[in-house]
Amino acid sequence: MEKTAIVTGSSSGLGLEISQSLLDQGFTVFGGSRSGTSIEHDNFYDVELDITSEESVMEFYETVREFTEDIHLFVNNAGICHMSPVIEMSTSVFEEHLATNTVGPFLMFKYLAPFIVPTETHIISVLSAAAHYGYPNVSGYSASKFGQRGLIESLKKEWKNHQVRFTNLCPGAIDTPLWDKMGMTFARDKMLSIDEFMSVFNFVLNSPRRIQFPEITFLNKDGFLE
Ligand SMILES: NC(=O)c1ccc[n+]([C@@H]2O[C@H](COP(=O)([O-])OP(=O)(O)OC[C@H]3O[C@@H](n4cnc5c(N)ncnc54)[C@H](OP(=O)(O)O)[C@@H]3O)[C@@H](O)[C@H]2O)c1
Repeated sequence: MEKTAIVTGSSSGLGLEISQSLLDQGFTVFGGSRSGTSIEHDNFYDVELDITSEESVMEFYETVREFTEDIHLFVNNAGICHMSPVIEMSTSVFEEHLATNTVGPFLMFKYLAPFIVPTETHIISVLSAAAHYGYPNVSGYSASKFGQRGLIESLKKEWKNHQVRFTNLCPGAIDTPLWDKMGMTFARDKMLSIDEFMSVFNFVLNSPRRIQFPEITFLNKDGFLE
């Protein structure tokens, strides 16, 4: 296995597209999700994963270890978003955001450590513009993505000696199945397309490794959520 990648949230939207693109580029991909993917490829391993469960995260990495001890690319992508004003959001839904979007990446990073290849491993996190700006009706999402950004800032310093390359992607709205679950209608044409997101992802992935992109914010120029 020359190039190996882990993609969390590989069953849908960006994670599904990222996994497919990495396979096309010659990576062996370990995709993690609760529901599994439709991808059929000799170099794709569809591994059950619930990032909110420490036991599930440990089992995920045990499976990966059966095939490799080196991960060259870690795509920290799995996430959830529910919309409602603070006064209508149940405490459990707010906590679910923190468990998935903040504690989940913490667990994934924690057990990723032994797989780091010094000077080579690249960690690309799919954060959000909401990791910087508090939009109305997505308080749980914003709080959890702010938290994830803080987690990564600490980790960057802790893993500095390994020369891990970190990139935070902070896109605005992207037309993925995430929006189907909101129970509202949105102007999808004012969002980025998945292809537009992938053009930025692949630009970062394939640029010379001495170039560091600590963070990239991008959105549809006519879009909302600016
Ligand atoms: N779409 C946008 O507008 C937008 C904008 C900025 C950033 N983002 C970020 O992009 C990432 C991907 O979102 P998307 O738009 O592609 O959404 P999506 O189509 O809903 O996909 C979300 C993925 O996350 C996985 N996931 C959720 N909870 C999980 C858990 N507990 N354990 C493991 N996997 C879990 C889902 O898999 P299972 O349900 O099968 O577990 C699914 O594969 C998220 O982090 C999101 O915050 C999205």
